[in-house]
Amino acid sequence: MSERLYIFDTTLRDGEQVPGCQLNTVEKIEVAKALEALGVDIIEAGFPISSPGDFKSVVEISKAVRKPTICALTRAVEKDIEVAADSLKHAKYKRIHTGIGTSFYHIHYKLNSNEEEIIERAVKAVKYAKKFVEDVEFYAEDAGRTENEYLARVIEAVVAAGATVLNIPDTTGYTLPHEFGAKIKYLKENVKNIDKAIISTHCHNDLGMATANTVSGILNGARQAEVTINGIGERAGNTSLEEVVMTLKSRKNIDIETNINTKNIYKTSRLVSSLMNMPVQPNKAIVGRNAFAHSSGIHQDGVLKNRENYEIIDPIDVGVSESSIALTARSGRAALKHRLKLLGYELNGDKLDKIYEKFLELADKKKDIKDEDLEVLVGKTPSSETAKIKLAHLQVLAGKSTIPMATVTLDIDSEEFTATESGNGPVDAALKAVKSLIRHKVRLEEYLVQAITKGSDDLGKVHIQIENKGKVYYGFSGNTDIITASVEAFIDAINKIV
Ligand code: KIV
Ligand code: ZN
Repeated sequence: MSERLYIFDTTLRDGEQVPGCQLNTVEKIEVAKALEALGVDIIEAGFPISSPGDFKSVVEISKAVRKPTICALTRAVEKDIEVAADSLKHAKYKRIHTGIGTSFYHIHYKLNSNEEEIIERAVKAVKYAKKFVEDVEFYAEDAGRTENEYLARVIEAVVAAGATVLNIPDTTGYTLPHEFGAKIKYLKENVKNIDKAIISTHCHNDLGMATANTVSGILNGARQAEVTINGIGERAGNTSLEEVVMTLKSRKNIDIETNINTKNIYKTSRLVSSLMNMPVQPNKAIVGRNAFAHSSGIHQDGVLKNRENYEIIDPIDVGVSESSIALTARSGRAALKHRLKLLGYELNGDKLDKIYEKFLELADKKKDIKDEDLEVLVGKTPSSETAKIKLAHLQVLAGKSTIPMATVTLDIDSEEFTATESGNGPVDAALKAVKSLIRHKVRLEEYLVQAITKGSDDLGKVHIQIENKGKVYYGFSGNTDIITASVEAFIDAINKIV
């Protein structure tokens, strides 16, 4: 039987520490519920002593989320532990996560202490936390730069004091994968009571090694991994959930499984990105926009013959509906033919050659060719003219010291409907007005505005990605007025649902 790795998600604690990523309690509950649906085992919901808002969020998450263990962070300080215990009072399964710095730097330059006193404080904190909860995790902050021999002494003492989980953080993201793996192995082999607790990894990404270090830790005996969605977290971030989980799932020679429902990965990633205002880099492993997009002619041809020629993960496994073939000047006939076929045009021989020539001319001018462009190439009316929902009128009020308002009239099946909404900007107000007029429940997942050249009279291109009933739809528009372009792109995406 496979061994089990526990997934400890700290998006709402380490992730939320990132400037600009702060969420309110309602948003935190939404993320916590998504993490529950994703199947994480432990949710680190906050650092309750740090602010009344953090305290409240831990309380509310404890009430709203019942399957995972809810964890609260503390320093090795009695007051912190009392407040954490109080914040967890409604949790069905609860854990206190307490700890202290163990590296030479932390002991001498941060805590102004010495090695023996740190062990005493660590033991005291664990024993105090045990008075409130059974499940106590201990973190040895900066374990990555802590001497293995001393770390082993700390760990043995806290296990004897009752710690159930031992967090070995690479707080500064300094270690290399073989060193981090060796550290976990050393603890497994040299701490005599180590089997009484689970070893956990918590790696930061300062040198881009967070996932590699985590996987190395797992291969050497760690059975809990601390991760965040999209790898967000202090500085360069934490190990990302999606990378660790998909590494274990894709590498058949690693017989360790998680409880993660991988099909929810993509939508959870987008939820966190949009609520935290933290875009996902396009080339991010697993969840980036380009993670399953193929652009060179050779790769496109290979993928169309057999997906596995160039893909080690089936996009469906992470909740992405299909691999995408990006049509660019480097695409070959096979890719063009495939996309045309999806649009309902079966072209071969001379006809395909002619369209392909026109396509290359256009692709030299335009970086990314969309379905609308192809329809024009094959001589059909662009979809916006035949669309079910069209933008009839748009009027916005915006500016400094004004509440942005938008009035939108939509032509839906030749009947006009009007709505007015306010928002945090004219685009927000206009999209809200559109939403109020349609019957589909849609969530905006991505919104990208680009200028084609650099002048202020330039054409603005807007790409929009929306979600409806778990499916993703894309919309596009170009206009010298970016608010109009935004609304048209939004409507374009909605028309694809219809
Ligand atoms: O990176 C770290 O060491 C931490 C601890 C508080 C667990 O986030
Ligand atoms: Zn951390």
